[in-house]
Amino acid sequence: MSTASVAETAKVAAGVVLPSIAEGVIKRRPTVLRAAQLLQLDRPSVRMMERLRDKHGGRPLRLQVPGRSVTLALTAEDVATVLAGAPVPFSPSTVEKDAALGHFQPHGVLISDPARRAGRRRFNEEVLEPGKALHQLAAPLREVIVDEAAALRRSPTLSWDTFAQGWWRLVRRVVFGKAAQDDHTVTDLLARLRLDANWAYLHRRRDGLREEFTRRLNEHLARAEPGSLAEVIAEVDGETPAADQVAHWLFAFDAAAMVAFRTLALLASHPEAARTAAGDASPELAYLRACALESVRLWPTTPMLLRETTHDTAWGPAGTTILVFTPFFHRDRARLSYADNFTPAIWLDGRAAAEPALVPFSAGPAICPGRDLVLFTVSTLLSELLREREYRDPAATLSPADPLPATLDPFHLKFTAHRAGE
Ligand code: HEM
Repeated sequence: MSTASVAETAKVAAGVVLPSIAEGVIKRRPTVLRAAQLLQLDRPSVRMMERLRDKHGGRPLRLQVPGRSVTLALTAEDVATVLAGAPVPFSPSTVEKDAALGHFQPHGVLISDPARRAGRRRFNEEVLEPGKALHQLAAPLREVIVDEAAALRRSPTLSWDTFAQGWWRLVRRVVFGKAAQDDHTVTDLLARLRLDANWAYLHRRRDGLREEFTRRLNEHLARAEPGSLAEVIAEVDGETPAADQVAHWLFAFDAAAMVAFRTLALLASHPEAARTAAGDASPELAYLRACALESVRLWPTTPMLLRETTHDTAWGPAGTTILVFTPFFHRDRARLSYADNFTPAIWLDGRAAAEPALVPFSAGPAICPGRDLVLFTVSTLLSELLREREYRDPAATLSPADPLPATLDPFHLKFTAHRAGE
């Protein structure tokens, strides 16, 4: 292990940690993200990480944080080892995540201790079915997505607000069923709790608000509406606090909206890829899934993957926080010839699978259990939007001729819809 100087520690704090906090770790702040895009904040952070790796020979880098042990991963191999070692000795539950997520899902799997984690993880896997490109509910869920896409297709322009409104109706139908489609309150309550969560321990917990949110959630789940995830939840073990798991899913579906909208920006600026996507007739929509994965590689929705050691390891004493800054690994120019380009093929031809630090959904035993369901949702929606039509970005935010920007604010993107070929 190497130890960072005070100046290097300050640079990591200023370039990696502070921008994430300012942008909102749990709920993004659109105005800050707009500024971050203008300043292209992630670019210098990635360059700084490259310099640290070169100077310290890729060894884990212990930062000089008063009263805390914090170590930064600098090689792809170390990322793989750390993520593979969950939950012991590298626990996904860390003090920071606990303080933040505790505002709205204190019993969520991600912040569970190793003993409670196993059952909660099983619950998540039983309902979300990771590893299956097509969920057992693929047919009814597809109907829901096609229906909501039809509403979005009626709009000649697609702004974030229009898109997000349709997206949340879709998500409520997927999770709870049609009876919940217009319950904005449940998503608004979560948004308020997530804004509190951005402040982690600095904001008091609003138990009353959380109880109201949980009560509403449980009412929707109790219906177990056929064709929704609530139906599957009703069939699995009753021990797990379901509402806390579902609170995480709703939170994570917000990241998925950003991923979908950024994917649309990539397709709007890469017409050939858009044509390939529109012509993809495979049942699992493999090409569109690859496009969505590229969106998360280029602009990770969890830029800081954190782990906390459960006992003494080569990374430091028990309680050490390990920081994996994914934008650095996902855009590693020393390893990836396609670092700053849109290259969906890497997810189809084995190149991405051979890279241990390309981790859009994390990796190892705590890998995102919603990954296949969310890729199904995003790809099915995009496929419907792109049927016989094209989306264009009049602001030309992305250009295939240039390296893709390090930061892409999804909230200010706006597309115009056109009949294909016009
Ligand atoms: C494109 C959207 C999504 C991305 C990029 C994503 C990515 C991730 C990542 C990186 C983690 C690891 C977090 C960490 O270690 O701190 C994670 C965990 C998790 N995700 Fe997702 N996720 C997405 C959507 C979803 C959805 C829609 C669901 C549920 C329906 C979901 C369920 C979960 C759960 C339950 C965990 C915690 C797993 C555990 O601790 O074992 N995610 N996700």
